[in-house]
Amino acid sequence: MAIVAKSLKYTKHGEPQDVLELVEQKIESPQAKQVLVKILAAPINPADINTIQGKYPVKPKFPAVAGNEFVGEVICVGDEVKSVETGQHVVPLATGLGTWTTHAVYQEDQVMAVSKNVGLAEAATITVNPCTAYRMLKDFVQLKPGDTVIQNGANSAVGQAVHQLCRAWGINSIGIVRNRPEIEELKQMLQCLGATAILTEEEIRTSDIFKTGKLKRPKLAFNCVGGKSATEVSRHLDNSGVMVTYGGMSREPVTVATGPLIFKDIAFRGFWMTRWSKENYDTPERKQMFKDLCDLMEQGKFVAPVHEMVPLDKFKDAAAAALSFKGFTGKKFILDMSK
Ligand SMILES: NC(=O)c1ccc[n+]([C@@H]2O[C@H](COP(=O)([O-])OP(=O)(O)OC[C@H]3O[C@@H](n4cnc5c(N)ncnc54)[C@H](OP(=O)(O)O)[C@@H]3O)[C@@H](O)[C@H]2O)c1
Repeated sequence: MAIVAKSLKYTKHGEPQDVLELVEQKIESPQAKQVLVKILAAPINPADINTIQGKYPVKPKFPAVAGNEFVGEVICVGDEVKSVETGQHVVPLATGLGTWTTHAVYQEDQVMAVSKNVGLAEAATITVNPCTAYRMLKDFVQLKPGDTVIQNGANSAVGQAVHQLCRAWGINSIGIVRNRPEIEELKQMLQCLGATAILTEEEIRTSDIFKTGKLKRPKLAFNCVGGKSATEVSRHLDNSGVMVTYGGMSREPVTVATGPLIFKDIAFRGFWMTRWSKENYDTPERKQMFKDLCDLMEQGKFVAPVHEMVPLDKFKDAAAAALSFKGFTGKKFILDMSK
């Protein structure tokens, strides 16, 4: 079978628009335990950009194909493949697979079949952000219905996943976002996803949202911004509350307020999905997580983050827009290779 793939490759670190090149390469037929996948869609995440820039802890071997997530269709399998079949949709179980390409050969155990009833955008973005939200809600504090979580960057893809899981599990989700001209539309959109309330960074400083007693103080906080935003969010934690830092979009360090640290005994933790996935590659917890997320997606209770599908040859504009230093990008870009 002679297939020529178009792939976004790079041979040195730098800005994506400078170092990525769209190249053609012949793809060999899959061997014993390999699968040949036609990639249908692959998102551009901040970590993908940071990896290309050389600012991420994962360093690829050059020449490298960019990208980590995808949904694809299996078009051919090796003789010994048992867990996936031709025609099925698959998503990655491993990281660093180089997914910004029209076709790729992967090992059978690097991919997992998902139902075709899960939408393309949902499947293409399932393994990073929804899983991060799921693990952070499950693994740090035992939450029960009626409890509250608070997060900054509440409009990020992870933030949108947190709101939707909180709605599904009966947890109050308070989101903090940066102010902007379209703030009312943004608040409405996030509340439609399941946020209990969305406040700007200025509003949360003077808000009495947890003082009236209607909402329990949060036992759990998520931080993907750092700097003053993180400090402010941590001030609202309940006694023995935990703040989990999973991103640093402002590029400012996390500063801890002394009072809440001492008098409320709050704790600060970090989370990295890549580490968790490697440590739990084949565990029942990981299978259960994917089942829960796929079920919610199939039921229409969990949708992909706000996004724009972009043809592969428009990757330069999309990659540059995906991680501007100022932020306010407003949507996730997903490379569309389905046609
Ligand atoms: N640790 C992990 O395992 C893990 C997993 C997934 C994601 N992440 C990290 O989580 C973060 C969000 O990822 P994502 O895919 O959800 O991103 P995304 O959808 O692109 O959203 C980016 C978020 O960052 C905010 N932001 C951007 N620049 C900012 C700045 N200069 N100051 C303050 N806020 C800024 C944006 O808010 P505005 O609209 O206000 O710009 C938005 O809320 C990234 O740092 C990513 O690497 C980590």
